[in-house]
Formats: sequence, structure tokens, C-alpha cells
Amino acid sequence: MHRQNHLSRRALLAIVGALSIGAGCSRGESEADSAAPKPASGTEPAGKKPKKLSEIVVGFSQTGAESSWRIAHSKSIQEEAEKRGVQLLFADGQNVHNNQVNAVNGFITKGVDVIVIAPQESVGWKPTLKEAKRAGIPVVLTSRGVDAEEDLYATVMVADFVWEGRQAGEWLAKQTNGKARIIELVGTPAADVAVMRKAGFAEAIAKHPDMKVIASQSGDFTRTKGKAVMETLLSAHKGEINAVYAHNDDMALGAIQAIQAAGLKPGQDIVVVSVDAVKPAFEAMMEGKLNATVECNPLHGPLLFDTIEKIARGEAVPKRTVVPGQVFEREQAATVIGSRAY
Ligand code: AHR
Repeated sequence: MHRQNHLSRRALLAIVGALSIGAGCSRGESEADSAAPKPASGTEPAGKKPKKLSEIVVGFSQTGAESSWRIAHSKSIQEEAEKRGVQLLFADGQNVHNNQVNAVNGFITKGVDVIVIAPQESVGWKPTLKEAKRAGIPVVLTSRGVDAEEDLYATVMVADFVWEGRQAGEWLAKQTNGKARIIELVGTPAADVAVMRKAGFAEAIAKHPDMKVIASQSGDFTRTKGKAVMETLLSAHKGEINAVYAHNDDMALGAIQAIQAAGLKPGQDIVVVSVDAVKPAFEAMMEGKLNATVECNPLHGPLLFDTIEKIARGEAVPKRTVVPGQVFEREQAATVIGSRAY
């Protein structure tokens, strides 16, 4: 136990309570977003000084390293912790939900000051979150949300995943004049991000009767699975496909390899649009193989530790922060690639 490293348990419980007061926000509110932080009453550590950030121990449960996006996300958080002198306990979940649950339970037993979770799956978190709450440890969610009552976590920082899917669908409709037979490469099905990217895309193409998803299959956000799934679907739907919508760049890059192996030209015979805007996607756009990507910024480190700092000071934080993004087309790739940080 890092007993003397702890914020006062009473203070933390007060913080968690106060954080849950901040109302949720509806999507579409500005990115700075969501619940404007309300000054929290009762968050001052009772009779004790709040800890300095350098005295705090943070346990971070990461999904794994499934994609370039995820690697950039881990790096951003690890570098920021180091910069601020925070002790970060990093647990790689290797893309297995139970590994993450076990890691978080371990953080609770250890008595860390704050727990950060980037959940592989959205469901199955309630008992662990209740345990963290009972122990007075605030939980911060990053990159994906969970299916649990809002009072079980302090705050969540994510992109607007429905917006991302919608952008991809609208872009594809414009590019194909509303005529497309599409393969959809879905992310991890049990993750909210996959459900929402699917929903946003479906909503956008529903306005175009000649746009049809002819197959929708999971590639689990990885390049290897994106390639394997695309190989199977290309042979099952020979000559029928003219577009791919991938829930992330890594799956799109795998699909591009499969398209080439089938003797077709990605970006030309088959239009490819995806989400993330990582550097390898810009390289593929410069080669003309990827047509567009919707940005999902993984650099959560600075915002995450600003938030943890506020929690440690007993200040209220917004219940939800939406990290903004934008659409990049291949015509912009050469100009923009130099300024990409991930
Ligand atoms: O949760 C964010 C998603 O997870 C990213 O789009 C994807 O690349 C990652 O693995």
C-alpha cells in the first residue's frame, strides 16, 4: 500500500461525489464540451493539504497495442506522466477484457490515488467501478466509454464517434455520387466506439438508396485481421465491391494490402475511407491508396493530467470532454503530413 501517498480517503470520496454532480452533455455540444465544470463544494481535503501531482500514484489500464492510434495514445500518456513527475503504473491488457478488470482490481488493492481506464469493451465494468468508488479512488476513462452509471466514474474523454462515422459516410456519398457497394470493417464489436462509428455511418448512407453495405465484419481494429477479413470478402463478392469503410486506419491499411493482392487498385477501383488519421494513413494517401481519413486524436496525455491535477486539488471537472477531429482527403496529404504528431 502507498498509504502516505494517498489523498485523504474522505476527500476523495467527496471529490467523486462532487464529480458526479456535473451533468452529462448531449452530443453536438462544443468540444470543450459537456457539462461546464461546476465549482464543487465539499471537495477540499478535510483538514489536509491536497497532494502535489508529483506525490500521486496513477494506475493506467490500457486496452493493448492493437493499432498505431493506440500506441500513440499510450505514448502520449506515458510521456506526460514523466514530464509531470507522476508515478504511472501501466498495465497492458493485451486486448482482453478480463486482463483489464484484473489490473484495475490490483490497482484498488494497491491503493493508487487515481485509476485511468481505456476500456477494450464497454460492458462488464460495474462491479469493479463500484469497488473503486467504495475505496474512494476516482476513475478517469480515456479513449472509450463504459456502460455504467455516471456516478461510477469521475470523467470520460473521448471523440464523438457517431460524428466520425457520419463524416465517413457523407464523404463516401459525395465521392461515389451516392452509388456504392460497401464493405464495412468493424472495430472490436463490444467497444462503444465500434457501435457508434457503425451507427453514424449507417445514418449518413441511409439518405442514399444506392449505397449499400454488402458485408460488415469485425477486423478488431488490427491490420492483420483487416487484411484477412478483406481477403475473404473480396473472393466472396468478386466484382461487386467499389468501396471500403474501415473503423480505423490499421484495418484500412490491411484491406489495401488485400485489394492489391487481388490485382485491384485501392483508392481507384475500390475507394477506401477510414478513421484515425495516423501517419501511415497519410503515407497511404500520398501513394493514392487511401482516399480519406477522419481524424480521431489520440494525444490525451496533457488533458488527462490536467484533469487528474484538478481532481487532486479537489476541483470539479466536466463529466465528459469530446476531443475534436476533422476530415483529411488524399489531396491534402502531402501538405499536411509534416505537421502530424502521430
Ligand atoms: O478507441 C479508439 C480506437 O481504438 C481507435 O480508433 C482505434 O485505432 C483504436 O484501436
